[in-house]
Amino acid sequence: MNEQPTSLPAPAPLALERSAQLLAQLRAALHAGGGWLPFDAYMQQALYAPGLGYYTGQVGQFGDFGSDSDFVTAPELSPLFGRTIAAQVARVLQQAALDSVVEFGAGSGQLAVQVLGELDRLGCAPRQYAIVEVSGALKHRQRDTLQRAVPHLADRVQWWSRLPERFDAVVLGNEVLDAMPVKLLSKHPGGWMERGVTQEGDDLVFADRPTTLQPPDPQAQALPPGSVTEIHPHALAFIRTLAERLRRGVALFIDYGFPQHEYYHPQRHMGTLRAHYRHRALDDVLLWPGLADITAHVDFTAVALAAQDAGLDVLGYTSQANFLMNCGLLDLVAEEFAAGPPPVAPSSAAALCQATAAPGGSHYLRQTAAVNKLLGESEMGELFKVIALGRGVDAHALHGFARGDRTHTL
Ligand SMILES: C[S@@+](CC[C@H](N)C(=O)[O-])C[C@H]1O[C@@H](n2cnc3c(N)ncnc32)[C@H](O)[C@@H]1O
Repeated sequence: MNEQPTSLPAPAPLALERSAQLLAQLRAALHAGGGWLPFDAYMQQALYAPGLGYYTGQVGQFGDFGSDSDFVTAPELSPLFGRTIAAQVARVLQQAALDSVVEFGAGSGQLAVQVLGELDRLGCAPRQYAIVEVSGALKHRQRDTLQRAVPHLADRVQWWSRLPERFDAVVLGNEVLDAMPVKLLSKHPGGWMERGVTQEGDDLVFADRPTTLQPPDPQAQALPPGSVTEIHPHALAFIRTLAERLRRGVALFIDYGFPQHEYYHPQRHMGTLRAHYRHRALDDVLLWPGLADITAHVDFTAVALAAQDAGLDVLGYTSQANFLMNCGLLDLVAEEFAAGPPPVAPSSAAALCQATAAPGGSHYLRQTAAVNKLLGESEMGELFKVIALGRGVDAHALHGFARGDRTHTL
C-alpha cells in the first residue's frame, strides 16, 4: 500500500480495511487489463466502486471544518447559497411554465432542502424535485435530510435511477462535473502519452502509454516535457446525454474550472487533478483509494461546445460571485439579519448568546464568514463558475447572468 505522509491524520482502522479491499479489486482490474489501467478507470473505481468507493462506501465526507470531513461545498457552508440559487430557479420555472427541478449529484441533500424550501416560501414549489445520484449510500442520506428538514415537501422528491428519454425541467448540479473521472495526459519529448496506473511491488504507481489523445487547446502543444494535464470525456458524454434528453428547460452547473485558454495555459502545466482528504489538497491521488476525494477542474469551453453540438444554447457563463450577487444574495443576507437568528432551545444563557444575530454574535459571524467565502475573489467567488445551458427558454429569465456575463471568454 502507498506510504502515508507523516503529516496526515491516519484513517480509522475500519476505513483502512475498506481501502485495502478496494485496492485488492484494483489489483484484480490491473491484472485483467494486462498490468495497466487508464487513470479514468482508476478514478471511477476509487470514487464509485459499489460499497467501497469514496462516494459509495462512506457517508461522512461533506461537512463543516472541525469534523472528520474532507471538504466543504457551498450548500454545506450556508443555506443562503441554495436560497439564492432558488431565486434563479423560480424565475425560469415561472417564465417557462415548468414544474420540475432535477438535481444531479445531490450529496448530503442540503441543496435540495434549501432550493425546495425557498421555492415553497416564494409560492412556487415545483410539482416534482427529482434527484439523480450514483451513490446508494448518499441517496439514503438525502432521503433522511429531506424528511427531517422539509417533511411537508418530501413527497415531491423522487430519485431517478436513470434519466428519462425526454424531460422538461430546471436542472441543477453543484460540484458534480468535477467529480467525474478524467483521463490524464503526460507530455514526453516525443509528444503526449496517456497516464495510467500500474503496480510496483505493493504500491500503485503511474505509468504512461502511447496514445492518439491530445489536449483540446492548441496552446497545450507548447507545454514542456514533464507537463501533465487532463481531458474530460466522461463529463462531456454526460453533457451530451443531458442535451439530447432535455426537451425544454435550463441546466445550471456550478463548479470550479476555467475556459480552455486558462485551463491549458503554461502556468497550469501540472494540471488540476488533486485528492482531498481532511481539508487538505494532496498531489498523491493514488493514496488510500476510496478514502480521499479525487477531482479535476472543469473545462467550461469543452462543456459549452459539447452542449452546443448536441443542440443546447449556452445561455450564460459567469463567476459564482457575479451569479449569486445578480440573484440577490446580499438582499437575503440583509433580510436574514433583520429577522434575527433561527430559534434555538434556550437551555442556557450561553445558547442564547451564541444564537444572537447582533454584530459580533456567532450566528452573525458564521453567516458573514460563509458569505465572504461564497463571494470572495480568493475563495470560491472567482474560481467557481456558473454555466447555463438550455433549450426553448427565454434568456431574459436568467437574471443570474445580467451583469458580468463571460460567455464570450469560452
Ligand atoms: C462533490 S459531491 C457534491 C455534492 C453536492 N452537490 C454538494 O454540492 O454538496 C459530487 C456528487 O456528485 C455525485 N455524482 C457524481 N457523478 C454523478 C453522475 N454522473 N450522476 C449523478 N450524480 C453523480 C456524487 O455521488 C456526489 O453526490
